[in-house]
Amino acid sequence: MELDFINNGPKKYDCYEDIFCSLAHKVFDYLKIDTDYLIDVSIVDNKTIHKINKEYRNVDRPTDVISFAFFDDVNEKSLPGVPSSLGEIIISFEKAEEQAVQYDHSAKREFSFLFVHGMLHLLGYDHMNEEDEKEMFSLQEKILGERVTMENEKLVELAIDARKRSYSPYSHFAVGAALLTKSGKTYIGANIENSSYPLCMCAERNAIYGAYLDGVKKEEIVALAIAADTDGPCSPCGACRQVISELLPKNAKILMANLKNEIKETTTAELLPFAFSEDDLK
Ligand code: THU
Repeated sequence: MELDFINNGPKKYDCYEDIFCSLAHKVFDYLKIDTDYLIDVSIVDNKTIHKINKEYRNVDRPTDVISFAFFDDVNEKSLPGVPSSLGEIIISFEKAEEQAVQYDHSAKREFSFLFVHGMLHLLGYDHMNEEDEKEMFSLQEKILGERVTMENEKLVELAIDARKRSYSPYSHFAVGAALLTKSGKTYIGANIENSSYPLCMCAERNAIYGAYLDGVKKEEIVALAIAADTDGPCSPCGACRQVISELLPKNAKILMANLKNEIKETTTAELLPFAFSEDDLK
């Protein structure tokens, strides 16, 4: 495999030649492709990608990544000993940086995602319908090997910070929560109390409901952190465990933490064994 890398952006993006090269190897290993391909990849600005998008795709705006496959069918080629070109991937550094901020993950993660996404297009994958999209995105995720795109400490930090939004004049016990999705998006929650005590709502549930209300699906949830000023890591209450067990995947990571940054890691399934579930209603 050969990578022809052109960086038309700032010098700091030169490091992506090696990163893309190792990702391309990963894609080929994963898909068990051993043809000697050549891949062209360039990093450009928004103005350039906008022009290309307009000219070749009739879309009058900048985009994050465009790929041009050289062959309609990847099995079509090739001359022995000569690496056949798989196609060209063009990435806008401005869009990548913008999206990294938007999804609250590193620029490296965003560039890597865009490159792998572009490569899969070159290899014939698409996301025109729901089924194809599911296949392509799950493949991307596996290749990137990054189900969790955030350090535990960072998610806990967000949960601690979310305590600022707590409305807890009765218990004076501020709880914060932060939920992480596969795309790297985060949702926070804090406990909101009421003078009619049973109406108090816990931080975790507020975070989970907020994510659902924004359209997040159960399978997209990767982790949930909860934090309060407790001696040891703060433990979610029974009611929240019941909600977590239904609305989060079984293997989602649950981080229990306190303000001293003591973190205990567990999973949805471990948090509430023998949970009541929809199966019990059948
Ligand atoms: N609380 C939470 O927010 N999450 C839990 O898992 C336990 C309890 C809140 C509810 C109430 O506002 C305060 O903590 C005291 O119980």
